[in-house]
Amino acid sequence: MIRFIKEYSLFDISGKDYTYIMKVNDCGYLQGVYYGAKLAGDYHFLMEQSNVKSPKLGDINMDMAFDTMPSECGFYLHGDFREPTIIIERKDGGKVSRFKYLEHSIVNGATTPKGLPHVRIGKQTLMICLYDEFSNVKLHLYYTCFDNSNALVRWTEIVNEGETAYLKRAYSFCLDLPKNEYNLLNLYGNYNHERMVEEKPLGHGITKIQSLRGKASHQTNPFLAILNKDTNEDFGECYGFQLMYSGSFSLSCEVGQNEDCRVQGGIADLGFSWKLENGEKFHTPQAVLVYSKNGLGDMSITFADFYKDYVILPQFVKAKRPLVINNWEATYFDFNTEKLKQIVDDAVELGIDTFVLDDGWFGVRNDDTSGLGDWFVNESKLQGGLKAITDYCKEKGVSFGLWFEPEMISENSELFRIHPEFAICKKGVEPCRGRNQLVLDFTNPKIVNHIFDLLDAIISKYNIKYIKWDMNRDVTEGYSQYLDSDSQGEFYHRYTLGVYSLAEKLTSKHPDLFIESCSGGGARFDGGMLYYAPQSWTSDNTDGRERVFIQWGTSMCYPVSAISCHVSECPNHQNFRITPFKTRGHIASLGPTGYELDLSKLTEDEKSMVKKQISNYKNVADLVLEGDFVRLKNPFKSEEFAAMLVSKNKEKAYVVYECLKNNFFDGERRLRLKHLNEDCEYYIHEYGQFVSGRTLMNYGVKIPRLEDFETFSLFIERRNKNEN
Ligand code: GLA
Repeated sequence: MIRFIKEYSLFDISGKDYTYIMKVNDCGYLQGVYYGAKLAGDYHFLMEQSNVKSPKLGDINMDMAFDTMPSECGFYLHGDFREPTIIIERKDGGKVSRFKYLEHSIVNGATTPKGLPHVRIGKQTLMICLYDEFSNVKLHLYYTCFDNSNALVRWTEIVNEGETAYLKRAYSFCLDLPKNEYNLLNLYGNYNHERMVEEKPLGHGITKIQSLRGKASHQTNPFLAILNKDTNEDFGECYGFQLMYSGSFSLSCEVGQNEDCRVQGGIADLGFSWKLENGEKFHTPQAVLVYSKNGLGDMSITFADFYKDYVILPQFVKAKRPLVINNWEATYFDFNTEKLKQIVDDAVELGIDTFVLDDGWFGVRNDDTSGLGDWFVNESKLQGGLKAITDYCKEKGVSFGLWFEPEMISENSELFRIHPEFAICKKGVEPCRGRNQLVLDFTNPKIVNHIFDLLDAIISKYNIKYIKWDMNRDVTEGYSQYLDSDSQGEFYHRYTLGVYSLAEKLTSKHPDLFIESCSGGGARFDGGMLYYAPQSWTSDNTDGRERVFIQWGTSMCYPVSAISCHVSECPNHQNFRITPFKTRGHIASLGPTGYELDLSKLTEDEKSMVKKQISNYKNVADLVLEGDFVRLKNPFKSEEFAAMLVSKNKEKAYVVYECLKNNFFDGERRLRLKHLNEDCEYYIHEYGQFVSGRTLMNYGVKIPRLEDFETFSLFIERRNKNEN
């Protein structure tokens, strides 16, 4: 519910459990007043009590006042010495800005940026228009709230009503939190260790989480949370901030002179410059803000529900996910039609329903040095072409999925021989060759259209319903022959817009096309891609031990229904660790599951384990799609991992525990469950016993003696003893 209280020039946005208050102060500036647990009006009291200063022009202390005023948009060069939110460079080189309130409107539904992923629905949207008289630029700050959610979405439209200007920074949001001792939680990593969790005290000065790689990346993720010092998984206040964006980004926290904290972010501004002619507009990506007064656990559930309710393509939110066999680790580039048919046969025998043909089916691609861009079937490798495989899948009742890497080009390819200018390159600069390949210039719509036509031809011809969209390197050089010299600073954002336009074309032409995004493992796990691709490949690291860290971190701000998990070969192909087959199955069952190994090499024992894993997974698949992911034992803080999936109505739950270091000398330990109904009785299938929710959550269940990397699971259903 959004309200404007005229008497106090105050805006009150109240969601499920939060209130967000701003006011237009006496001098016409938009000031933040409060963001936290829900309030109940009392505006007069709030105005009297809040120590909000109203800077006046000509005030002797104006500089100080601007520098400490909680702002919804940081000015530049005009008394606020914290990092600005928007920087506009005018033709004369001047950059000073001072945004004042002009007008506002409140509308039903969501107002969304063009060409960018966005919420599909919303309850109400507040637009506050600020005006900068120096540059004649208007800012439209948008705030969208939702029914029954603690998420709030913000973004900004910048309208140039003056002379040609250059945006040098265009962040999506700014929020000044009051004096406190805060901790910062963010996700860092590298290839094979995506989204590791780091939590540390937030010191003075600026802490920046940033990617300059043209994507979310393995190393960072467009998410951070600000926690009260004593907040943990279940208790305390925290604020999550996330950009629904897949390109280079920046999120920063600045602890100022009064121990207050400015959090803001958006498109990375290093090298960014966007030319705005008179009358032109610029739209920033949307940012999602989540307030939780019950710790990180609740914050994560809010993010997960937010994506399921408002962002992910509705036709896929509750649709049964494919149970996949992917041939990558089974064959790499070395396969032919017979081998693939064998994989399909083995999959059918075990109850797997979808076969995904990975890299190597197109152009001339027998290793990673060639073929990217040649999206036509390699018929000498695949005898009978793709038709032989898709027909075979159909005959066997298995769905078919196909791998693409649409943004890339190999120098050794037909496409490069005909169109070398399609690759990103700056004359005189030797390009970086990540994984022996170059990146296509997706700032150029002609190139995007060309790739769309190639993909569309294959998807349409073979009636493909599933694609894995990979992206195996970072974007370097950042220069386009398509853009004029004045617009090169637009490169990275335009590249991302190109990616979105291809995704938009594919999903609108093929509404039943299920896309799994991927990037050299999990470097493109972000809210922007989730708008088009309901699932994302979490990491190439499918090791039964290290996966628990990756899945724990990913669950901070993404729904478990998007966290694609496969049971893979052993020893693991990435780190050579040996983990039990059962463990790999258990960990992979905490997300949309699949297999990534040579099924023909499985022993009879392993085959029967796969069958058991699949039937176990089928029991919990609805929890993966619609349930809450609840974190129980933090592997970053102990030698244990435990998590559970719980249905929203608390009728059904699934618990997985892994021992990361054998616990033989640890004495007796218990695992307390969460999110059950205290007053209900539950049946634990593994124990064949009825236990109350109260006992399961307060006393817990005994953790058995386990070897390194051994797991146990529990399947729990609400049932009374006297029910059958
Ligand atoms: C990336 C993906 C893998 C696989 C290969 C194919 O590394 O993460 O799953 O698709 O590319 O080249």
